[in-house]
Amino acid sequence: MKVLVATEKPFAKAAVDGIKEIVEKAGGEVVLLEKYTSVDQFYAAVADVDALIVRSDKVTKEVIAHAKNLKIVVRAGAGYDNLDLAACTERGIVAMNTPGQNSNAVAELALGMMVYMARNSFHSGTGSELKGKTLGIHAFGHVGRLVAGIAKGFGMNVQAFDPFVPAAKIEEAGVKAVSSIEELYSTSNYVSLHIPATEQTKNSINYELLSRMPKGGTLVNTARKEVINEADMMRLLEERQDFKYITDIAPSCAAEMAEKFGTRFFATPKKMGAETAEANINAGLAAANQAVGFLKEGIDRFRVN
Ligand code: 3PG
Repeated sequence: MKVLVATEKPFAKAAVDGIKEIVEKAGGEVVLLEKYTSVDQFYAAVADVDALIVRSDKVTKEVIAHAKNLKIVVRAGAGYDNLDLAACTERGIVAMNTPGQNSNAVAELALGMMVYMARNSFHSGTGSELKGKTLGIHAFGHVGRLVAGIAKGFGMNVQAFDPFVPAAKIEEAGVKAVSSIEELYSTSNYVSLHIPATEQTKNSINYELLSRMPKGGTLVNTARKEVINEADMMRLLEERQDFKYITDIAPSCAAEMAEKFGTRFFATPKKMGAETAEANINAGLAAANQAVGFLKEGIDRFRVN
């Protein structure tokens, strides 16, 4: 049983050690491909492995075509928009994610980003506090729920909208459920995005929605680049001197936005939401356990195809 860990953005050493321990204990072998710089390296490494563990690494149909023995791909993380599920399914390869394992790291970053924007990107001048402000959580999954809990600690008024989570479930968590996405944006000082990138959500955060945000509105994106309509975001930032955007996934026009909008825009140089030792260990070990569990016992919990 050969397990390839292919991570352009490597896991912390403790996570790699943990993955090795799990796989070796099950009689297998780990092959490590870190910080690779060309897809050819990925194609070569995947050629004879039974399982593949990745982060945001793109598992395309070409990767699948090179993986002659592959039986399972585990995305160590939440979003699996980087996996070509159709190509996996066509070859009978099981695809999984590890939901919830890195959520706390992302949730903490979302709140950190709010503080950063509230304090003028740590430049001089009078900032504002999160306490008493309204936070709209767009999608109430693992990360959204954690963001809600931390935001309450800050004394924020927390509300949420999720087309797939009934209002009663949101209210059970002590969060106000608003009845539409339009209402969420119209009534929130901060909106924190936690939607996946799908055909339905791509470009969906558009001018119509963003322009509803009240004066001083701030959008926080720790989700995906693709969900933002970048032309609309540019237009809104140009039209409204009060509007702010902070993101962990740099838009294609990040340099232009940084130059034009100063402290009203910030993008991390490289996605860092899940970049904590804890998140690496949780997601990496879960991925290894899921890969071994499937190969040895056929357990396919968390299968996404
Ligand atoms: C996820 O979907 O789990 C996060 O975006 C983290 O992605 P990463 O593993 O590339 O940091």
